[in-house]
Amino acid sequence: MERPVCRRDRAEKQVSNATVTPWEVTGEIDYDKLIKQFGTQPITEELLQRIAKHTGGLHPQLRRRLFYSHRDLDVILNEYEKGNKFYLYTGRGPSGPVHIGHLVPWIFTRHLQEKFDAKLYFQVTDDERYLYHEKFSQEDTYNNALDNILDVIAVGFDKNKTKIIIDSRAGGVLYKLAVRIAKHVTLSTAKAVFGFQDSTNIGLAFYPAIQAAPAFLESELTGKSSPCLIPAAIDQDPFWRVTRDVAPKLGFPKPAQIHSKFLPGLGQGGKMSASHPETAIFTTDSAKEAQAKISSSFTGGQATRELHRKLGGNPDICPVFAYHSFFTENDQEVENIYGSCRSGELFCGECKAILAPKVTTFLADHQKKRDAARKVVNDYLIQS
Ligand code: TYM
Repeated sequence: MERPVCRRDRAEKQVSNATVTPWEVTGEIDYDKLIKQFGTQPITEELLQRIAKHTGGLHPQLRRRLFYSHRDLDVILNEYEKGNKFYLYTGRGPSGPVHIGHLVPWIFTRHLQEKFDAKLYFQVTDDERYLYHEKFSQEDTYNNALDNILDVIAVGFDKNKTKIIIDSRAGGVLYKLAVRIAKHVTLSTAKAVFGFQDSTNIGLAFYPAIQAAPAFLESELTGKSSPCLIPAAIDQDPFWRVTRDVAPKLGFPKPAQIHSKFLPGLGQGGKMSASHPETAIFTTDSAKEAQAKISSSFTGGQATRELHRKLGGNPDICPVFAYHSFFTENDQEVENIYGSCRSGELFCGECKAILAPKVTTFLADHQKKRDAARKVVNDYLIQS
């Protein structure tokens, strides 16, 4: 089996000083080390060129290496080039409102859907979030699911090629598969990969089989071996290691992955996370709220204007720069911001003032699409 990473793996903590699991991301992440620890592959220049051949230019998230790691992306492209189309699978654990970090893999998935004319299964795991968080009732996570799918639809997935599965309502389509998957995953594997303890509830111990199931669903439904590509941030990787291990035992192709780094929160270090709402920009934030969060954001600037002019800032650790990179299409503009921060020419206040309208314009547009999504929810949902 591909190397499991335990939630409480001491060696991992010593090497990278970071914990990256599907339920906890803390510490300073060294993304290159993560590739080695997780046993994934970097996205090489050669792979980028192969992708660009099909997409007619690279998406900014690839150009800027926000998506940076993969498993079997080359195999997916080989199959595609032979005429064997792949489908996409991604998802959301509805533990609260959606923030702009969640949009990273979804916007990229929409791009892949459009360029490769691919079908998408989008899983909304209200069951996972109910099992994981003590504070939630089943109604809470279901209501979050209904709210979050408005964001999913607002991203612009093709309604003729996208199916959203809310586990508590449509898990029936996954259940038979999940049971077959679960039969091949031992408790000791689940403990080693996910760090489950004796005190973990048995619902969570079974849950990885539910998240694995959509990776085989198209093959199961069509009876034809269908390659699957999963875009997600790298925190979801433990699920895919187990899924890939089971695939050949059930006669399915191993699902491929393309992994992103995390969009940082507005504080110092750490990913944008709903557990730290003061440092997250939610898709439902008003312009005023977003502006206030941006203006109080941590930056890579120096302590005083004089020092900043003299020494320059550090965009590499700066969330404001990370958001410029995320919200700006034009490479030259991003480079200029990077360069003028480094040289000390651009002050943090000015840089935030340039960012704020990019974010508020994006939010206003997204919120309009979010409202319009209410009318078409049923076109996307799998009902079972
Ligand atoms: P969830 O809800 O924690 O996260 C949803 C997606 O967002 C990614 N993500 C981020 N990406 C960039 N920057 C961030 N700050 C950031 N925070 C979260 C996550 O990697 C994820 O892709 N168990 C899953 C739900 C799920 C799923 C899937 C996700 C079910 N099937 C298939 C991806 C692919 C979860 O709770 O995701």
